[in-house]
Amino acid sequence: MARLSGKVAVVTGAARGIGRGHAMLLAEQGASVVVNDLGGEWDGSGADQRPAQLAVDEIVSAGGTAVANYDDVSDWEGGQRLINQAIETFGGLDIVICNAGILRDRMTFNMTEEEWDAVIRVHLKGHFVPIRRAATYWRERNKETGEPVNGRVVLTSSESGLFANPGQLNYDAAKSGIATMAIVLAKELARYGVTVNAIAPRARTRLTENTFGSRPVEGDFDARDPDNVAPWVVWLCTEEAAHVTGQNFVVGGGTVQLVSGWRVDSAIEKDQRWTLDELDDRWRELFGDRPTAPVQRPAPPRPPAGTEPRSP
Ligand SMILES: NC(=O)c1ccc[n+]([C@@H]2O[C@H](COP(=O)([O-])OP(=O)(O)OC[C@H]3O[C@@H](n4cnc5c(N)ncnc54)[C@H](O)[C@@H]3O)[C@@H](O)[C@H]2O)c1
Repeated sequence: MARLSGKVAVVTGAARGIGRGHAMLLAEQGASVVVNDLGGEWDGSGADQRPAQLAVDEIVSAGGTAVANYDDVSDWEGGQRLINQAIETFGGLDIVICNAGILRDRMTFNMTEEEWDAVIRVHLKGHFVPIRRAATYWRERNKETGEPVNGRVVLTSSESGLFANPGQLNYDAAKSGIATMAIVLAKELARYGVTVNAIAPRARTRLTENTFGSRPVEGDFDARDPDNVAPWVVWLCTEEAAHVTGQNFVVGGGTVQLVSGWRVDSAIEKDQRWTLDELDDRWRELFGDRPTAPVQRPAPPRPPAGTEPRSP
């Protein structure tokens, strides 16, 4: 039985990869879907309307309901136009899945200002702008009716951001920020009846084909198939998930992991300002047996020029 009949969903970056799987399963579950995609290259360059339209055609030919949107989600006007299109076309808004993303990997000492700005913009602002508009809409509906709006938001983080992968400072900073955005937004929007969660997906897409390249033997379960991510994301959008909010999950293959972050490990305290000499004597108490620097993985052998793996 369809779980999301009558619901209206927006999925950003839904023309291909992981987002396409979300859009397909939402439509299969009865939601009307706005398939957003700028249609650019993996690094964010270029634009092409065809991929989003192809995804819409596929949903419609399978009996679902969808329209395409080609806006850049990180553009203030574009991200708002996207949400307005859902409301105007389908008469409401229930689900926003922020998934659009790009990569511009580089060690920090080589990263350009443009590479930093592009990744921060698409991920952080590209999550903020559509949610800003959706949150305004939901708050207004709640004030009008006095009822919870039963909204759902799923953000897209990354294990690179959660666990600090070197060589992608721009991407890690953005994805780590998105993990925290889920918690902040969950607190802000709870009073209106909106849940907000984030996932860190694992899948073979054009962003990771060099990392997760090899396909399984024909007939075996393909744990890196991007469509494996959608069931958990779509489940988070169902009635059954009404009380799951402000959480981060790693999702891929047949695995769903609940992850959580910062905690206070230890403390030294006094009721006066510390002197440097006192800190010389006491700082070791903070660490006990713990390492005082992050554990480094051994550096992998350098790949041939031009074939560097991309690893979100
Ligand atoms: N593939 C993985 O293993 C993996 C791991 C961790 C995180 N992620 C994240 O998952 C999300 C989806 O990645 P994917 O692997 O499916 O990549 P993908 O390149 O196949 O899909 C991303 C889509 O986003 C679109 N897009 C990019 N910038 C946009 C913008 N400004 N406005 C609208 N659309 C835009 C692209 O055109 C593309 O179709 C990304 O946020 C990515 O960072 C992926």
